[in-house]
Amino acid sequence: MNHRAELARELLGHLRSQRAAGVDYVSLGTPRETVPQAAHPATAPPARAPEPETAPNPEQQALIPQAAPAPAPTLAPMAKRRDPGPEPPPLPFDPDADMSLDQLEAAVDGCLRCKLGPGRTNLVFGVGNPAANLVIVGEAPGANEDAEGIPFVGRAGQMLTKMIENVIEVPRQEVYICNILKCRPPGNRNPEPDEIDCCEPYLHKQLAIIQPRLILALGKFAAQWLLQTKTPIGRLRGKFGRYQGIPCLSTYHPAYLLRNPRDKRLVLEDLLKAKAVYHGEAEAEIELFR
Ligand code: URA
Repeated sequence: MNHRAELARELLGHLRSQRAAGVDYVSLGTPRETVPQAAHPATAPPARAPEPETAPNPEQQALIPQAAPAPAPTLAPMAKRRDPGPEPPPLPFDPDADMSLDQLEAAVDGCLRCKLGPGRTNLVFGVGNPAANLVIVGEAPGANEDAEGIPFVGRAGQMLTKMIENVIEVPRQEVYICNILKCRPPGNRNPEPDEIDCCEPYLHKQLAIIQPRLILALGKFAAQWLLQTKTPIGRLRGKFGRYQGIPCLSTYHPAYLLRNPRDKRLVLEDLLKAKAVYHGEAEAEIELFR
């Protein structure tokens, strides 16, 4: 028996003993994966493991992970909500319909699906290039954004503009900027789960229409929602995961940087990775797996 077949036999034995001990999930680890610069990465086929020289039999095949074993995955699963509460009101658009960003914006403009709607001055849908290669996702509008109806126009917004223009080296109007929530939470408190539930179809549709090549998640809420994980932002930042196949890099929120300027150097490191991918100088190395 050659070396690979012997390895496969040993692995099969190990997996059988794990299954006998009640283990029903085996980690695929965190193999480093390089993402090609596909025009529509959401539709790119998933990376496959190389074919073994001696093919294992079907029973072995079913048990052997398809990717090379490596250290444990880093993404902690989203907690299931215990009480999902009542169903939100129906969506004001058909999620399967072909539509432009302008049409989507017009449809959601009067939204009152969650408790934030009645308190807003303006719904903050998003701003920028509808064909952007880079979409930047923040948390929720603050007072300035609520007043103007445009995301990231306050102090955090000025910091974001510098991040985009001076570090990633793209004019701000070339990218698209939006938030998880489209309405301001009172007193700038954190988004609540029922608010995210009501608002997330809008962001899903925005991203489906734009189909960017790269997403930058700002802060815990954006990163955890896009990557569907509860892993803390400190462990997500600087690493690429995927949202619907699209490389998604997380970093600290600019509002956090205003309070913690010492962490600017970490964000600089992260943004340089985004810059290299954006300008086609490097490929996104996906390190975060579910
Ligand atoms: N913070 C955000 O997350 N989004 C904004 O639009 C403004 C501040």
